[in-house]
Amino acid sequence: MVYNTHHITHPVTIHTLKQLKHKGDKFVCIALYDAPTATIAQNQGIEVLLVGDSLGMTVQGHSSTLPVTMEHMAYHTSAVSRGNHKSLIIADMPFMSYSTTEQAMHNAGLLMQAGANIVKLEGGEWLAETIYKLSERGIPVCAHLGLTPQSVNKFGGFRVQGKEQGQADNILKDAKLLDQAGADLIVLECIPTELATTITQSVKMSTIGIGAGQMTDAQVLVINDIIGLTAKPPRFSKNFLSEAGSIAEAMTLFRDQVKAGDFPTENHTFRL
Ligand code: KIV
Repeated sequence: MVYNTHHITHPVTIHTLKQLKHKGDKFVCIALYDAPTATIAQNQGIEVLLVGDSLGMTVQGHSSTLPVTMEHMAYHTSAVSRGNHKSLIIADMPFMSYSTTEQAMHNAGLLMQAGANIVKLEGGEWLAETIYKLSERGIPVCAHLGLTPQSVNKFGGFRVQGKEQGQADNILKDAKLLDQAGADLIVLECIPTELATTITQSVKMSTIGIGAGQMTDAQVLVINDIIGLTAKPPRFSKNFLSEAGSIAEAMTLFRDQVKAGDFPTENHTFRL
């Protein structure tokens, strides 16, 4: 065990997450962007902190993640890293910062130097070679499939993905390919529970769900949704602060409900 009731006793590593998957124990991730929330999260036993490019919407006020730059991501990654000593940090690679393998290697290196332990990239089969090369050079990778927000213009809006059989087959095929290419983790966003369950059972890497049902190895939510800062919260999220007395308690509730299998409920999920 790396944690007791609330505290992480040893720094969380990729190895810790693999052990949790092996034992069938769930872990928890929060997307957050600054030092103070990172400190609270690590103190409440949140195993993984995601410096998400969602900051383009949640912090900068844009309507998508596309305006986020490498400079923004490095700035927020270093802030989170200064507030955290125990949780594992994933940093998002922003829009068009990994279009070629060479560009991805360079930019991933900058995020690792800013304090990330893992980099996250959105996309399927076309990323297999990049993931293989990053992994080979010692950079762990978190893949991201389903509703990949950097492709919002291709999707024609923030829509659930994988509801049709052909689309679901492609997502499953891509997940298996990226697993074989060396990805250590994968975010599955807004896909039917059935598809997320099949992927989780078919890959070695740990799956982190958001709007992907209860069967993934982990759950992630954005801090703004957890503490009720979002004007129109997405259906898959939950304001935990409305049931808690402080931000720390809200994070603990999220953590405990995920580990007990009480979050997400059917109301937070999508079905085929
Ligand atoms: O950018 C982000 O915060 C994310 C999560 C919503 C998974 O990618």
